[in-house]
Amino acid sequence: MKKIIVFISIVLSLASCSNEDSDMIAIDNPEIALNIPSDFPKLNAFVSQNKPTKYGVELGEKLFADKRFSADNTISCSSCHIQANAFTDQHAQAVGIEGRIGLRNTPSIQNLAFMKFYNWDGSKLQLENQPLVPIITHEEMDSSILDVINKIKDDAVYKDLFKKAFGDESVTPDKIYKSIAQFEYTLISANSKYDKVKRKETSFTESELQGFQTFQQKCASCHATELFTDQSFRNIGFPLNTDTNEAGRGRVTGIPSDFMSFRVPSLRNVEYTAPYGSFGQFSNLRAVLDYFDNGVLDADNLDPIFKENGKRIPLTEQEKDNLIAFMKTLSDTQFVGK
Ligand code: HEC
Ligand code: HEC
Repeated sequence: MKKIIVFISIVLSLASCSNEDSDMIAIDNPEIALNIPSDFPKLNAFVSQNKPTKYGVELGEKLFADKRFSADNTISCSSCHIQANAFTDQHAQAVGIEGRIGLRNTPSIQNLAFMKFYNWDGSKLQLENQPLVPIITHEEMDSSILDVINKIKDDAVYKDLFKKAFGDESVTPDKIYKSIAQFEYTLISANSKYDKVKRKETSFTESELQGFQTFQQKCASCHATELFTDQSFRNIGFPLNTDTNEAGRGRVTGIPSDFMSFRVPSLRNVEYTAPYGSFGQFSNLRAVLDYFDNGVLDADNLDPIFKENGKRIPLTEQEKDNLIAFMKTLSDTQFVGK
């Protein structure tokens, strides 16, 4: 509903009798209060410079689902980031226009307002700088921001939304990036069984509890904090992506000690995000745990936690069952719309 702040125009017309500039009519576009769960890490500093608003988020959500972002109008952001899969796509490596296969597995889009680094290699530090990457990437949307703007700029629904969100109907790259980021900032998952147990609304089964204990001993040093990632980059000896473009964090820093290191993934909603690993090496959670147990690949920069423990995380079959039961308590059915 439009609420036109009439008094602004009254004040203006008093100040200057000739001013009838209709742009001065402000549309009520309230900020959306982010529901920040207790114990979460602090917000990424950029959120305060682009606070989600009612229409900013609505616009961002619409853009996120718009297939005109791709050269041939077949792929939207949400083609790869599907809500029911916690905003992933079930492919080992992302599939873009014309069936082109990308370098990496699609990560979930959740709790990004609390992250300091984006992408597997942390190549982006600010969410507003991210959307251009898929738009121009050959294996993703293979388009350009000018093409996208040309396709949507005369759409009446967009004109209205851009105006409501940003005060005027012009469609600019900056507004596109900002509104998509605003939408993403609102994607907060913190209502899993694990969260409910923490809030003392329910309790773990025996198996989940045992899994939680094993998790704290053997996994939580990296899958730390309420995000279940400490946001560090580590080489944990997963099977290697032989694509010559892949170097993990080393791609960003150029430092040998970062070669094939990847950002520790959040394990929230991990039940919905198979396959696993930076290029989907593992089809299910059991396969990841079997791999840890059997032993990982050695490397000069293999993480000390593995290096100093015989390059493996020993796990009994019972521990694996319990760990999987625990990881499934991180599923937030409300978040994935189930
Ligand atoms: C073809 C599939 C595909 C499309 C289309 C796509 N993405 Fe992604 N997205 C990916 C992959 C793969 C990555 C990981 C890239 C990397 O690590 O280098 C990713 C990473 C991201 C991230 C970082 C998530 C994190 O956990 O750090 C965000 C945010 C994101 N995409 C948003 C978008 C937006 C917004 C669009 C539309 C403008 C979009 N994506 C389109 C596959 C896709
Ligand atoms: C030394 C840090 C470290 C430890 C300890 C660790 N992980 Fe991870 N984990 C990572 C990193 C880094 C990745 C991503 C690696 C890659 O793709 O190359 C990962 C990936 C995963 C994945 C795949 C997630 C996805 O979305 O692709 C799962 C599941 C997982 N870990 C579970 C566990 C469990 C369970 C334990 C304990 C038994 C554990 N991890 C111990 C760092 C660690």
